[in-house]
Amino acid sequence: MKTFIEKTKNTATLSSIITLLNWDQETMMPEGAASIRSSQIALLSSLVHEQKTSKDYRNALKKLIDIDSGTILANNLNDIEKKALILFRKDYIENTKLPSSFIQEFAKTTSEVTNIWIKAKQDNDFASFAPHLEKIIALSQKKADILGYENSPYDALVDGYEPDMTAAKLTKIFSPLEKGLQSLVKELQQKASPRDAFLYSNYPHDKQLLFGNQILDKLNIDRKKSRLDESVHPFSVGIHPTDVRYTTKISPNFPMSSILSILHEAGHSLYELGLPSKYYGTPICEAASLGIHESQSRFWETRIGKSYPFWQHFYPLMQDVFPKNLESVSLDTFYKGINAVKTTLIRVDSDEVTYCLHILLRFEIEKALIEGTLSVYDIPKVWNETMQKFLGITPKTDAEGCLQDVHFSCGLIGYFPTYALGNLYASHFFSAFEIAHPNWEQNVAKGEFEFIKKWLLENIHCHGKYYSSEELAKKVTGKPISEKAYLNYLTNKFDRIYLH
Ligand code: CO
Repeated sequence: MKTFIEKTKNTATLSSIITLLNWDQETMMPEGAASIRSSQIALLSSLVHEQKTSKDYRNALKKLIDIDSGTILANNLNDIEKKALILFRKDYIENTKLPSSFIQEFAKTTSEVTNIWIKAKQDNDFASFAPHLEKIIALSQKKADILGYENSPYDALVDGYEPDMTAAKLTKIFSPLEKGLQSLVKELQQKASPRDAFLYSNYPHDKQLLFGNQILDKLNIDRKKSRLDESVHPFSVGIHPTDVRYTTKISPNFPMSSILSILHEAGHSLYELGLPSKYYGTPICEAASLGIHESQSRFWETRIGKSYPFWQHFYPLMQDVFPKNLESVSLDTFYKGINAVKTTLIRVDSDEVTYCLHILLRFEIEKALIEGTLSVYDIPKVWNETMQKFLGITPKTDAEGCLQDVHFSCGLIGYFPTYALGNLYASHFFSAFEIAHPNWEQNVAKGEFEFIKKWLLENIHCHGKYYSSEELAKKVTGKPISEKAYLNYLTNKFDRIYLH
């Protein structure tokens, strides 16, 4: 096993260089380097693929685990090593199923269609995009067929982001979520929305960055192993548990966007920093799933960062940094303002209550496209009708409707549900966290955060991919994931905020 892991460590290191190049491309790279950068990434990607699918690799792996049956052949392995082999085998089977000609065709088509999408969105021209989206759907269906599935072709695609998740399981979780959220939205829409105009004035760029860093210092995120930069879209990547990069985007007229994105990306980064580096080079040192990853970011962004005690601590500091904007705004007004529920057409601008409805809309559409029950040409109609049903608003243009996200053109079908799952997992985990730390609100109000980081590290991060997301959810709370914890949290929180 040792010699095998020496090899896989090399492959992981090579992959980590691709991650670093991608980070550089989004943050530091001069524009003129775009072409050489794609060649660099393409070369390294093909080397990684070659290493993971070579005869040598297969021979080394099959000495440890029978590739056909999954029977473990190596002796004296502990449970973690056994699990690593099971995951190595799953990866190997998946990596060798898709022929490299298909991978190339998929990459070429999605990159072309992404450019067509950019223009179609600019011109609000869905008709010019539709035939190209049809190609992406056909390729995705082909991908699902090659990967294999039992019930829905969607299962094969979602598994790539959320292992073991299926369309049927998602429908079971999302249906009651949809009903609960719809009735909560209707209820809140009848009440007066909190005042929040003070959040939309000029907050100088440098001061926003200064305040964001004050928060990070207080959270005591390890600056020797991570760094914050700026980029067009906020993101975070783990190069290694000792090297994590994350970014924010400063919007001069809306500071909460950058503050909350710093907390969101810091949540992702803490997960990457907490992965078990002892198992670097094996799947154990990876995130359990994208949904679990998103739960860590939403835990910090919403459950902590949009909570009252968090601002009991930070609001006086924020008033010091932005006296002109906030000196006459009370803590209560500020807290209610940052939590105002706004029905917007745009997913990335939406609030905690409406966010998942934007995802459920996309899930229904992409599932129907892949299962062949919806034609690409009918997307705008279904999109607009569902928006009306969910939020009571209809997009005037497709640019602010079905053309708003890049995901379909990139071929990322099956990705959207992980955003909603992230919210559900965050609340699911929070219910166990609250039991372990019944005084969390008093501690957070005092500016203490170490106990939260420790709880997340010990209960979630340190396990890496040893447990699947389903197993992890059960291990942490004793129960499988459902919509309940999330809906209870939202109802209690917003009943209080919208009391008057
Ligand atoms: Co995220």
